[in-house]
Amino acid sequence: MSNQIEVRPNRKLHARDFMIYGHFIEHFHRQIYGGIYEPGHALADRDGFRTDVMEALKRIHVPVMRWPGGCFVSNYHWMDGVGENRIPFFDKAWRVEESNQFGTDEFISYSKKIGAEPYICTNAGSGTAEEMSDWVEYCNLTVDGKWAKKRIENGYANPYNVRFWSIGNENYGDWEMGAKDLKEWGRYVKESAKMMKRVDPNIELFAASIADLDWNINLLREAGKYLDWISIHGYWDTLNEKNDLADFETCMAYTLAIEPEIVKTKHILGALGYLDKIKISFDEWNLRGWHHPNVDSKPEDYLTPRDKNDWNDSYTMADAIFSACFLNQCLKHGDSVKMANFSPTVNTRGMIYTHADGIVLRSTFYVFELYTNYMEDEVIDSWADIDSTFDVWLDGKKITIPAIDMIATRSSKNGQLAISLINRDPDNSHSITLKGTEQKHGKLYSILSDSKDAYNDVKNPDRIKLKEETLEFNGETIRFDIPPHSVHVLKL
Ligand code: AHR
Repeated sequence: MSNQIEVRPNRKLHARDFMIYGHFIEHFHRQIYGGIYEPGHALADRDGFRTDVMEALKRIHVPVMRWPGGCFVSNYHWMDGVGENRIPFFDKAWRVEESNQFGTDEFISYSKKIGAEPYICTNAGSGTAEEMSDWVEYCNLTVDGKWAKKRIENGYANPYNVRFWSIGNENYGDWEMGAKDLKEWGRYVKESAKMMKRVDPNIELFAASIADLDWNINLLREAGKYLDWISIHGYWDTLNEKNDLADFETCMAYTLAIEPEIVKTKHILGALGYLDKIKISFDEWNLRGWHHPNVDSKPEDYLTPRDKNDWNDSYTMADAIFSACFLNQCLKHGDSVKMANFSPTVNTRGMIYTHADGIVLRSTFYVFELYTNYMEDEVIDSWADIDSTFDVWLDGKKITIPAIDMIATRSSKNGQLAISLINRDPDNSHSITLKGTEQKHGKLYSILSDSKDAYNDVKNPDRIKLKEETLEFNGETIRFDIPPHSVHVLKL
């Protein structure tokens, strides 16, 4: 079996937007309270933020953080979460009391501490256009009007200049409170966008969308001229009701289902003439859907099952390989996909798990540490003739999966190459030959493990982590083996 890869260092396809390494965090389970925010914890700073979590986030250079939801936001009223008297409310999305102790000011402060741009998703469920635009006033006006004055009264003299604002979250879905049909949605987005842009014409507006022609025809015909982004979401191992996680092989089949969502969205934008104006933000994505069963049931035991999201043995090399394949697709389609937000960052299905004495860095954390530190800022032309494949049976159908996934990038500063190489094969190493560059040595940064089902946990936090080795090559063809179930970046 030969697996030929060729790169064209001098053929730049497009620049990579670093915001594809973005994050999402929601008021759900232990993401905020007990996650990033735990006043009184031994590792919390004077603002109540877990310093162990912040140190980990700085290692992966978080470019943008989306907040506060997710389904939560469709019944969230932001003004209850600012100022001295925080008003608790019963969150009808997740059917728990929200204390409102963590609100806009805390979110902005947190974003600044980790060096991320804030991205606020607004309430297009029970909210109004006016409430959204008042939120923009609170954050971005210097002093005009009551909301900027309220921010100053709360002790924050300077505007926050929040650039990214989404109108709604998944309002197309019946599961969302205040869901809207496609006719309502186009009109609602237009009226909200008008008011928000009149407060601050410099903001960039997103709108909840899906890779669906009818939904987008109406949305873009009504509101396209106001929008800078459309927001799409994806969870491939859907676990909302049953926590029966897909096995490694099935997850490898799911890696082939990432690109169609992106391509369909690009084609819709193109057909409607917006491909050069509106960018794609994949602003919630994760292999694993969140587990929150019985959410519409009578108040029986619908809270405790959420603790199953905390089981660290759920997050294996399958999650790392899927996430790396996802980021490769964002790089491949970087001409349109300019933001992506891993969902969520901390706890639930996140890449960081918090416990009383510290944190566990799950396998997906290392994918972000690998890509944000070692992949480069220009995507260059490359192709792969991969002969090595393996078969997976999914829903009674045989799916033949190419073992190797790759993409090549180059530094616009010094021309250094960084090539992502992923071996999806659960059992076999595969050798690759790389043409198009005559380097004599390189560095290989790898996420390796002794088992495809390996995971990190409190008692064994380093079973999966980044490794580094130097490779020497003789002659112009570079040849080496890639171990099973592994993710690598080759720097040349
Ligand atoms: O399962 C969590 C939910 O997934 C998020 O709140 C929502 O945005 C998405 O449907």
